[in-house]
Order: sequence, then C-alpha cells, then structure tokens
Amino acid sequence: MFFHQGKLDMVLTTQAYASMSNAQELVPIEKRYEDVKLSAEYVESRVKYPKFVFETILDYVEKSLGTFPKYPLAVDIGCGPGLMSTVFLAPYFDKVLGVDISESQIEQATLNNKHSNIEYSLSVAEKLPVEENSVTLIQVATALHWLNYEKFYRECDRVLVPGGVIAAFSYTVKDILIVNHPRSLAIQDVLMRISNKLASFDINPYYSERNEWAARRYTYPRLQIPYEDTKRVDGQYMEFPSTISGILRCLMTTAYIRLFVNNSEENQLWWKDCHQRLMEAYGTDDPEAPLTFKLEVFMLLGRKPTL
Ligand SMILES: C[S@@+](CC[C@H](N)C(=O)[O-])C[C@H]1O[C@@H](n2cnc3c(N)ncnc32)[C@H](O)[C@@H]1O
Repeated sequence: MFFHQGKLDMVLTTQAYASMSNAQELVPIEKRYEDVKLSAEYVESRVKYPKFVFETILDYVEKSLGTFPKYPLAVDIGCGPGLMSTVFLAPYFDKVLGVDISESQIEQATLNNKHSNIEYSLSVAEKLPVEENSVTLIQVATALHWLNYEKFYRECDRVLVPGGVIAAFSYTVKDILIVNHPRSLAIQDVLMRISNKLASFDINPYYSERNEWAARRYTYPRLQIPYEDTKRVDGQYMEFPSTISGILRCLMTTAYIRLFVNNSEENQLWWKDCHQRLMEAYGTDDPEAPLTFKLEVFMLLGRKPTL
C-alpha cells in the first residue's frame, strides 16, 4: 500500500493545482463548473441521488466504526451546490464540511445552506482545511474523476481517523435508459447517438480522459481506493420522472456537454435538432411530454486500516 510512507508535505493553492494537473484539459477543471447560471441550473435539472446511496455509505461507516448517535466529522469533496450530496450527511454527523474548487458552486451552496452543522469552503480536495486524524467519512459524489487522485488519496490518509471511510460514487450520462414507454427503444437509440457524438474525442474537444473514467464506471485501476479493505457497488439504478427537454436540460449541466453545445451556432442548432429527433422518436410534438429515465450508479468504498 502506498500510504504510510510519510505525509504529503506541500502547500497546494488552487492556482498551483491548476497549473500542475490540468495541462491536458482544454478548460481548466476549476473553471468547468465556474458559472453562476450553471450552478443554479445544476440544482434545478441535475439528477438527485437515491436514498440507497447514502444508506450504503452509512452502513459501511457503521460496520467500520460502530453505531454512534452522531459521528464527528464528514467532508464532502466537490460538493457543488450542496443540495445533491452534502445535505444528506447532516443528520448523521456533528459537522459536515463541503469543499469545492469552484467559487460559484461554493456561493450557491452557501446560499442554499439551511443546516447549522454544514459549512462550505472554497478548497481543493488535495489540501483539505481539516486536522489530521479528524474525519470519519470523506464522500466524493461525481467528482473523483476530476481530482489528482494520488494526492487526494494521500490527503485522505492524513485526515481520516483509523477505520475512517472514503466513499466515491457517480453515474454516467452515456447510458440513459428509458422506462415505461412503448417507444423506449427508439428514444434510447436517439439518446445513444447524441451521447456518442458528445463523448467522441474527435468531435468534442471538451470531452476528456477524465470523463471517460466516469463513463467506464471508475474501473480505471489507478482510480481505486488504495486501501486493502474496499468494496464496489454496481448494478443499482436511479430513476427520474422527467420530460424530453428535462433530460436534455439535465445533460446540459454536464460541463463537457454544455461547453460543446455553447461553443458555436452550429452546435446550438444541432442541440435544437436533438429535441426534434427525440420528439419524433417519442411520437409527440410536445417537448414537455413526460418521460422517465434511469441511470446506473456505481460506488467505490474503502476503509483506512485501524491501528
Ligand atoms: C460534477 S460536479 C459534482 C457536484 C455534486 N457533488 C454532485 O454530486 O452533483 C463536480 C464538482 O467537483 C468540483 N471539483 C473539481 N475538481 C476539484 C478539486 N480538485 N477539489 C475540489 N473540488 C473539485 C467541481 O468544481 C464541481 O463542482
């Protein structure tokens, strides 16, 4: 195990992080979600994680550390606007800290905050503003693929208590399934064509290796939690009642899609045409026609060894 080789001794500012690890990104990571409009739309249109995700995490924490009325501290990495991931931890921890590299996400999270035990902080995952051996749970919701995972895992090892847990989970918008619709296969086929174009390295310059790690369900070996005691969860789905345009609005909260669509008039026209093609496949001329879709969630869980 690469941990316990000594502590990572470096000061990591947001800017230093950007210049070190983002060279291959067309838009630097800290800028991808740096958009006030996007932060607001994110809350409105992005998918919400189902209860089982948080139940699975808390069950894993409990198996590791036992049952307490409340655990001391959880950190939610890449918390975004807070409402998707951070808030679910509030009932189980004395304090929850949500951190994000993007100013607009932290502003939105702070604006949304109704919990006295949640705080939000503009910080990078690789240099957390918490003491060593102080954190029970580090949660990473749809953000692990954006991190400098080696530095991040070292930082986790610094701040986690023995037996403390890392829980990373995500979903891929590349495989959208339509449920309860007589033309589900035709609609799925159109969605697949749209996704394939958006996730093509040749067509979309904003689609990166990191997006591919998520599309491949975090199976990339280097992304694995570097503890002996780990668990993977697959084959669980989250379902959302939505509409034709609701699905496309949800996709537009993904940075590589939004950046591509807004990149040129031609791409915007293509996006309009995607609405049209979905309506045709559905058999309607109403973009707000109801449509339920589902996505697979995948989870990586790992536990720091007890002393
Ligand atoms: C796709 S969003 C996920 C937001 C939310 N957790 C959710 O599940 O919907 C990824 C977030 O990770 C943040 N992020 C990316 N790199 C980061 C880093 N190195 N440290 C902290 N946050 C980071 C981005 O700014 C963005 O808000």
